[in-house]
Amino acid sequence: MYPFGPGLDYVRNGWYAAGWSGDFGEALLTRTFLDEPVVLYRTSAGEAVALADRCAHRAYPLSLGTRLGDTVRCGYHGFTYDGHGRCVAIPSQQHVPAAYGVRRYPTLERGGVVWIWMGEPNAADEAALPDLHELGLTDPNFHVDVGGVNTWRNRYQLINENLLDLSHIEFLHLGTIGTPNVAASPVVTTVHPHMIEATRTIHGDQATPLHKRALGIDGSMDRTTRSLFFPPGAHVTQVLMVAPGSNARFGQPGYFGEFKQAHLITPSTAIETYYFWSIARTSHKDAQTSAFMLDAFRTVFAQDGVALEAQERSLQRDPHFHELSCKADEAALKARRLLADAMTAENTVPRPLHAVSASSSRRPQ
Ligand code: FES
Ligand SMILES: [Fe+2]
Repeated sequence: MYPFGPGLDYVRNGWYAAGWSGDFGEALLTRTFLDEPVVLYRTSAGEAVALADRCAHRAYPLSLGTRLGDTVRCGYHGFTYDGHGRCVAIPSQQHVPAAYGVRRYPTLERGGVVWIWMGEPNAADEAALPDLHELGLTDPNFHVDVGGVNTWRNRYQLINENLLDLSHIEFLHLGTIGTPNVAASPVVTTVHPHMIEATRTIHGDQATPLHKRALGIDGSMDRTTRSLFFPPGAHVTQVLMVAPGSNARFGQPGYFGEFKQAHLITPSTAIETYYFWSIARTSHKDAQTSAFMLDAFRTVFAQDGVALEAQERSLQRDPHFHELSCKADEAALKARRLLADAMTAENTVPRPLHAVSASSSRRPQ
């Protein structure tokens, strides 16, 4: 699957966003992650549960069944599963074989996000979570607004690369967050042990109407943008805006404000992707500014969605398309390498039987 080699589809051993905390409740919600349909709900004790959305009896989707307390009863013949995926009742007989059940995926709820581990369950380690503070989800200086989720019909790597090459904001988002000075400003790319960073500073950048409305910036500013990628699926765009030449930091004279936009990218299928997003900021934390920001970034991300879906169609038309790269692609190319290496390493380790799950081309609902 472009831009990766044959057989390299997804990094499996890593935390992906399954949903915002508010997505999990009494109702059964189905989403497809890495080609595997998953049913999501929250128990009465508040625990977020993720089970294979396929009854072990005859493969009917459990999401079409009903909640019975903390269990899920299949809507076809009534096999019932608890929050660990164990079958606890078969209506047509007394005996329930102990081995009957469906796969339960490890989950962790942190920073207002339910994270899911689609790979080898024993490898699920909290230490592998992305840095929630950097993402702006747990930084006490920031007010967080959850934007929700977009489902785009394009392969996930197009989003990873969109977020790692922000020279596109000068063209795709001119007038909202883009200004004519972005693409020509130099970018410094750094590969950290578990993260890739691309940083650019634009000196004397012109504040757009968005910056003026959101932070009251009138005139010019020095704008530093840090794009961080925590593989396999978490990005943040951090934007620091200060008075020109002031070099100000949080709380200092000349400090206008900062944004941290979290972009949590979870592959659904080979050509469909979930894009969970939030926006955090350090000032103007009132509800009207929140509504303005959410609206503004909904427009910005919709511009990305239209572009990436068009790019996907273009790639599907010609699978042999030979791309050309430029300097600004450095971070994106490093991210590709990192993901490809991780997938290759996973593919050389035999997967234990219980980690194998039937693939599906089913689309998310
Ligand atoms: S398919 Fe679920 S009980 Fe038969
Ligand atoms: Fe964009």
